[in-house]
Parts: sequence; C-alpha cells; structure tokens
Amino acid sequence: MTSSVATPSIHVERTRTPRPKPKETELGFGRHFADHMFIADYVAGRGWTAPRVVPYAPFSLEPAAMVFHYGQAMFEGLKAFRLPDGQVALFRVDRHCQRMAKGAPWLSMPAPDPDFLQSAIVTLVATDREWVPASRGTALYVRPTLIATQPSLGVRPSETYSLFVITSPVGAYYTGGLKPVRIWVERERVRAVRGGIGAVKAAGNYAASLQVAEHAREKGCDQVLWLDAAERRFVEEVGTMNVFLVIGNELITPPLTGSILAGITRDAVITLARDWGLAVAERPIALDEVEAAHRNGLLKEAFGTGTAAVIQSVGTLVYDGGELMIGDGRTGSLAQRLYDAITRLQYGDDPDPHDWRTIVSMPSA
Ligand code: COI
Repeated sequence: MTSSVATPSIHVERTRTPRPKPKETELGFGRHFADHMFIADYVAGRGWTAPRVVPYAPFSLEPAAMVFHYGQAMFEGLKAFRLPDGQVALFRVDRHCQRMAKGAPWLSMPAPDPDFLQSAIVTLVATDREWVPASRGTALYVRPTLIATQPSLGVRPSETYSLFVITSPVGAYYTGGLKPVRIWVERERVRAVRGGIGAVKAAGNYAASLQVAEHAREKGCDQVLWLDAAERRFVEEVGTMNVFLVIGNELITPPLTGSILAGITRDAVITLARDWGLAVAERPIALDEVEAAHRNGLLKEAFGTGTAAVIQSVGTLVYDGGELMIGDGRTGSLAQRLYDAITRLQYGDDPDPHDWRTIVSMPSA
C-alpha cells in the first residue's frame, strides 16, 4: 500500500525567478538546488514558529551563532522519485523524520515532531515537484538540517534553532555508478565510539571522517572501512554507509550498538532479505573472520547501503601492503538483486507491501 499525507498550512512564497534546471544526464550529486527551501525557527519556550516555504536563497546568521562554535548541527537525507504515471513519491519519509527526532536530543537540540517535519518535506517537494527528475538513477535528494542559531559563546545548548530543508536533483553518488569500489581498511583512526554520537546524523561525524577519506583516496581507494574504536577489530561502516557481508549463505551486518547509524536502507535490505527467506544476522563481524572467510572461499560479497548510493558493492579491501578481492571483484548477485528490488520500489515499478512510498500532493489551501 502507498500512503498519502495531508499537510497543515505552511506558508508558501513562490519564487518569481525560477532557475533553469540542469540536464538529467549531468546531475552529479548535490551540485544543483531546487527553487525553494523550507525554514522554521525554534525559540525555547515557544516551540517551532513561522514554518514557511520560500525561494532558495542565502540566509544570514551572526558569526557568534552557536552552530559555528560548538557544532550543534545534524541532518537527514532522503529521496523523492518520479513514478511511471508522473506522480512523485518520497521513499520512507516517515522513518527519516523519526530518526531526526530521535537524534536531536543527543546534541541537546529540540526534536522536530516527525509529522511536522514530514508535512514540511511534502509541502516543499510538492512546490518543487518539477525539479524531480524522471530518468532511472536520478531522484530529488531532500536534505533536512537542524542548526543552533543563538549568538553566544557560552558552552551550553542554544536557545534558538533553525530547521531548514533544501532539495537537490541528483544522479549517482559514486561517479563510477554501480562499479564496485576499492576500500581502505583503516586500522588507526575511528569514525565513532560506542557511547558517543556515531548513531546520530551529526554533522561532526562527517567532519571527523574527511581526513581519513582523503588519506584513502591518496592510497587509490574510494572510501574507508571503519573498524570499532575499542579494539580496531570489528567492522563498523564503509564510507558513509552501513556495511553488509555475505559469508557462506549468511547475510551479515554489524548490530546497532551505538556507534553505527541506523540506516534506513540497511533496514530495507534486512526486511527484503528476510522476505526472501535468506538467513540474516545482525552480529559483530571481526576482520579476522572476513580474512578467514576469504581464505576458505566463503567470502562471497561485501556491500555498503545508504540513501545516496542505495547499494554499493565493495570490490577490493586494501591494507598497508596487501589487497583482498571480494568474490570476483564485480557486483555480487545479492547486491544486484537488492539494488534492483529497492529501486523498483522507489520508482513505483513494484507494489509497495511495506508502505514505503508516500505520494506527494500539495495540500488544498
Ligand atoms: C548516505 O549514504 O545516504 C549518506 O549518508 C551520504 C550522505 C551524507 C551524502
């Protein structure tokens, strides 16, 4: 089943100068922005005020705004797709809104009510529906963001916040498309620690990953395999994605123990694989186990999952002084089957038994 969500009244001010849209064959990822954005302001004691869709434009913040100093910033990322009948559907928007609400308190930020955020996203995407590209592999990426705005240098939570949502017509996240990536196994630096904010889509988590990702690129790799912070033994994430391995006949992904993001594509993969009767385990995976499985011919596939790339096969793990090719180095059959199934659901080619699509329609005023 596919659900429709009515939106409450959010003031919409349409642009008088719509911008030319990029060609669908030249989108890249996150380089172009649609005509409008959503903004709402939060004031302690008053809650969220003045929710509005306005023309996309720079906004001003004081240099003392707390987001610039103590990093109270988090975001979400989801996509809207053009269906065969021309309608637009958001994929798992409810889960993304719930995740933002769950994550905000970890940064002492006010949690936007998930229904309120979903209404904001639906209204914005409805306003910019012409920006949703139609070709396969493209989508309108939706980026809700929450930042602290109070001008103050005291180290404590801000009393004011902005919640804004921008959108970007996108193509493939990795320039090589589905081509399997080379992954650097990082044995020193870590992405997140258990008990910290690794499970939150906090901007700082991404900042902390950049230098290691640069280092991986210098080694000829596309991204980083992150290991656990305590022992540097257990596989945690790959690049900005959750990680899955196929060892023997089992699909395995690390459990959500606090340092790993509860990916919504991760959840989709687990749900579909279980629907198909596959053995799925959420359990710790030691790097030693991966190496042993490789030696014994049992390591069949490795792939990352995320909203941006959907499924990205890992072709090779690269160490200081060694490489380990996974399967035959090409996209594995399960990765391909999952990619096909998820994208068919996203683009409305298949029925929607889990109610993952939300049709976007402008509320009647
Ligand atoms: C995703 O895979 O969706 C991500 O988290 C990457 C995003 C930050 C561009």
